Amino acid sequence: MFSSNDCIIWLISFTTIIIIFLCHESKKNNGSFPEGFMFGASTSAYQIEGAWNEDGKGENIWDHFIHENPMRIVNNDNADEACDSYHKYKEDVFLAASLGFSAYRISISWTRILPSGYMGSINEVGLKYYEDLIDEIVKHNMKAVVTLHHFDLPQRLQKDFGGWTNPKLIDIFVDYSRIVIERLEKVDYWITVNEPRIICNYGYGNGKSAPGLEYQEFECTKVIIMSHAAVYRMYKNEFPNRKAKMAITLDCEWFEPKTRSSKDIAAAERILEFQIGIFAHPILKGGWPKVVEDRMENRRLMENLPISQLPKLTDDEIEFINGTFDFLGVNHYYTNYAEYDSDNNIEKSRNEINAGVLITVDPSWDKNSLGRTVTTWGTRKMFKWLKETYNNPEIFISEYGYSDNGTTLEDNERIRFSRMYLSAFHDAIYKDEVRIFAALTWSLLDNFEWSFGYSAHFGLFYIDQNDPNKTRIRKKLAHFYKKLTATGRIPEDLHT
Ligand code: BGC
Repeated sequence: MFSSNDCIIWLISFTTIIIIFLCHESKKNNGSFPEGFMFGASTSAYQIEGAWNEDGKGENIWDHFIHENPMRIVNNDNADEACDSYHKYKEDVFLAASLGFSAYRISISWTRILPSGYMGSINEVGLKYYEDLIDEIVKHNMKAVVTLHHFDLPQRLQKDFGGWTNPKLIDIFVDYSRIVIERLEKVDYWITVNEPRIICNYGYGNGKSAPGLEYQEFECTKVIIMSHAAVYRMYKNEFPNRKAKMAITLDCEWFEPKTRSSKDIAAAERILEFQIGIFAHPILKGGWPKVVEDRMENRRLMENLPISQLPKLTDDEIEFINGTFDFLGVNHYYTNYAEYDSDNNIEKSRNEINAGVLITVDPSWDKNSLGRTVTTWGTRKMFKWLKETYNNPEIFISEYGYSDNGTTLEDNERIRFSRMYLSAFHDAIYKDEVRIFAALTWSLLDNFEWSFGYSAHFGLFYIDQNDPNKTRIRKKLAHFYKKLTATGRIPEDLHT
């Protein structure tokens, strides 16, 4: 039998194990983000820089689209001056650093470097501008996160080649990227293309965004994926000593099956594949997602078309694209319902029709000022799906955020939603072990929100577009972020 000494030893050992376990758990999940986790803010050139034709910058498709069709933008706004960050970049970098951010994301305006996009001389002033901007970011101890292409394609590439539907763009994008990468040595993270789905579906699919074309989204999809892969391969071959990581950024929205029926569950999975998988699968796994290939082949048969709208990927192309990532860039904002639906009514997007899905929202769900859902219960599911579907890649959240209509600097609702997003990221990291290593909020400044002009306010700093000085005014949400970066934990109160 056990002696009383044995019992005491057992008891001590047992208690020690429990204490070690509890310490470990609380360390794992005490509300803090992991050591070294990066918080920051995101911007893009067209949305903040202004100076649309200064210092030799060429016209891009958004300049062109807006100047030709001012009515297509809310309040006839344009981005000719935007936030004037071209001249105020030092102040903007300082503001980002003043919130304790460890990363700041910008994008390069292609036509500042190559005014026509593809030929003629390099515009030294443009290159120098970005070199100085990145020096400034580094000087403030932040990581420079740089997107090579964020929607603003050179207009000449559109006019001369048809833009992202022409495979010639692949080499042209590589040539431009090489010039930028060669010069900007201090970049820490490269993002090749921001949200290719938005470019292809809205710019070349339904014509709602620049360049305003329709029915060519699949051609665009293939050319953009190939262009991304070609830049990634060029970078790895020609700059072997550079440490900066490179990836593409995809817009990843969650789709929840409307009911637990097997048809709705399959519908949700299909739309995820049409929206995310069509880009992520070739890059992280190889080839088009099977469900997308099958659906598009069925549609070809139904419509009696000679070839599928989805271009083929040859074996060489599949191999060329596969593996071209060091992490996965994710922009995440929304969650919607998906249900099975075979109607092709005109209200539906082409993706819904192709996938045989109807996307809906519940009227009771919270929405931002653009009427888009803010349903962060889907956020954690989204990241879990990415982890499980793509073999647990490292994830860089390059955008998330919430817009209001800009009528108050006491943006408590925005604090509420930021807290909800951040808690979902925290849960994804600690409860689901998703490898998220950075979260950059959209955006540092109130800026030009594409077709919505200046009507949507996503910034940490308010800008009154009627103020000629474009003074930056700190909002309450900026204080929230300052507290977050100081403590590494989601602030529980709103006070500073
Ligand atoms: C884009 C940004 C945009 C933001 C808010 C993202 O889709 O990358 O350019 O401003 O969402 O709508």
